Amino acid sequence: MLIAQISDTHILARSSEQAASASRAEALRRCIADINRQGVDVVVHTGDTVHNGTADEYAYLREILADLDAPLFLIPGNRDRRDALRDALDHLSYLPRNGDHLHYVIEDYPVRLVAMDSVAEGERKGAFCARRLAWLEETLALAPDRPTILFIHHPPFDIARRFVGGYRHPREAEDLAAVVNRHPQVGQLLCGHVHFLHREPWGGTTAATMPSVAVDLRKEVDAAIEAAPLYLLHVASTDGGLVSHTRIVTP
Ligand SMILES: [Fe+2]
Repeated sequence: MLIAQISDTHILARSSEQAASASRAEALRRCIADINRQGVDVVVHTGDTVHNGTADEYAYLREILADLDAPLFLIPGNRDRRDALRDALDHLSYLPRNGDHLHYVIEDYPVRLVAMDSVAEGERKGAFCARRLAWLEETLALAPDRPTILFIHHPPFDIARRFVGGYRHPREAEDLAAVVNRHPQVGQLLCGHVHFLHREPWGGTTAATMPSVAVDLRKEVDAAIEAAPLYLLHVASTDGGLVSHTRIVTP
């Protein structure tokens, strides 16, 4: 199973006078064109789809995403606003129409996709509160034998000197790792938020982050690739393990 991961597109309104409005839209369009050429099964977006959570931004995002051939599964980031996202992307039938969190599970593929919402609206930091953890525990317990990929916007761990204390409570992050540790079918956790590439052992599995698709916001990317946007291609094996490639989309 081939999974493309995009993240942190931070789309601005088409009418915005910021130069980044055009460059971020173009970066996403170029990634989508390349993803379409790869014949992927699904695309996951690990959050911060737009920059300010406005209806105008979501309308522009929807227009750009319309070119994508494969099904898209997205989770909100701290820049998203759930109600505006739900309203503007009402064609994404897997998004819960009601409730506080945009959690869901996709069962249609050889690898089970579990998306957990880590957003506390109005806050930059990630939230892994007891209600979310109970949902995750219950969800993972329903299919212990199904290889699973988990995706969450906020990495639930510190990354030395680069990302420290990016969630509300260290105890919540420890509890989240403990939940995942009890469910060895989780082959990997995919995150966004930090805008750079990172990978480490976590919760009995592997956790990874990726650079933002928004080129002006990404960090720690070699200057040699300059303005070329990038995304990740994950080849999932039948046990849920991932081999990941970075796709640099050169003109
Ligand atoms: Fe972001």
